[in-house]
Amino acid sequence: MSGHHLHPESVVVHIGVGQDSVYGAVSTPIYQTVTYQHPGAGLGRYDYSRTDNPTRTGLADGLARLEGGAGASLFSSGMAAIVALFHLLRQGEHVVLTEDLYGGTYRVLVDLFQRFGIAASFVNTQDIAAVEHAIRDTTRLLFIETPSNPHLMITDLRAMASLARDHRLWLAVDNTFMTPLRQRPFDLGADFVVYSATKYLSGHNDVLAGALISRDPDLAKKVAELANSTGGVLAPFDAWLVIRGLKTLAVRLDRQEANAAHVAKFLQSHPAVRNVYYPGLANHPGSALHRAQCLGPGAMVSFQLKARERSADLMDALELILPAVSLGGTESLITHPDSETHRELPEGMRHRLGIGPGLMRLSVGVENREDLVHDLGQALDRVIEPIKGRDA
Ligand SMILES: Cc1ncc(COP(=O)(O)O)c(C=O)c1O
Repeated sequence: MSGHHLHPESVVVHIGVGQDSVYGAVSTPIYQTVTYQHPGAGLGRYDYSRTDNPTRTGLADGLARLEGGAGASLFSSGMAAIVALFHLLRQGEHVVLTEDLYGGTYRVLVDLFQRFGIAASFVNTQDIAAVEHAIRDTTRLLFIETPSNPHLMITDLRAMASLARDHRLWLAVDNTFMTPLRQRPFDLGADFVVYSATKYLSGHNDVLAGALISRDPDLAKKVAELANSTGGVLAPFDAWLVIRGLKTLAVRLDRQEANAAHVAKFLQSHPAVRNVYYPGLANHPGSALHRAQCLGPGAMVSFQLKARERSADLMDALELILPAVSLGGTESLITHPDSETHRELPEGMRHRLGIGPGLMRLSVGVENREDLVHDLGQALDRVIEPIKGRDA
């Protein structure tokens, strides 16, 4: 061992490699077993797959190493990982969250955890004073999405970490849009990083998975105990799919990001589009802050149609880009947050956040960038045609 410190792009390729001491299989074996034969009267390293499974452990150890955390627990979806984080809270405690966030996180807090006495405040976390103002004596957790969903607004993670320290809170970052290759929340002061591994980490729109990574070893242990108690853990085959997807994360992200920058510029120039939200654009209000805390703008682009009522027509007119929820995979997908990913938010809140009928969210895939621009162009031209001369 030369002591050379591997770059994250190399770490992702080798996650799970070296697990098969019997045959030396390079591809991590799928340990499709529930239970393990004990080596005598005592327990062996593995006992029961809800608690631990070698395929899942290979992925968990790799993700913890990649992220720079003490330990990772893997769940059957991103939501299960987020729920595990909220399970660390006690009755009577309070959470402050980014208001422009994934609708499922809003729903689980308001519909479920509120019934068990956990309160939540959804605030504009770009505004540091507003976050401080929302903190109560009972606040235990700050939960941040940056870039936010769907507007890709940027929250200052160093400032959030400083607030968390001053008020003795945990800081958790949903890093799904960025991945450890673009944003490293532990380096910026976070205590937890949460992922929908369904998205970029696995990257092929073929597996649901979630990860909760803890910076502190005691908290990592607590989360692992919670995962075992509540049982929503990642199955061995699904863990294998995430391991396989991770091997190409660096190349996929480079390509997707380059495509997204090209698409965002094209959208900005199209007369059917009123606004484009992409942290890589110079006129994005958070672009300088994003550059100060991230290694790239990512591959999510949102935009506002001038003809707000034509979003369904736009989705119908696309030939290559698929109208579908989810994000981060090889195929480009377009979503209508108002009626899909964010429909759980109350209408008033959606209105206040600007999540209206004309807002579209695009997850840019790995296709040829000219094909993507051609597809968007022909669809946007059709959408604008009948309303020429009228600024809807
Ligand atoms: C930012 C973000 N976090 C969490 C989730 C939930 O993940 P999952 O669908 O894997 O449960 C999603 C899903 O779209 C998401 O976009």
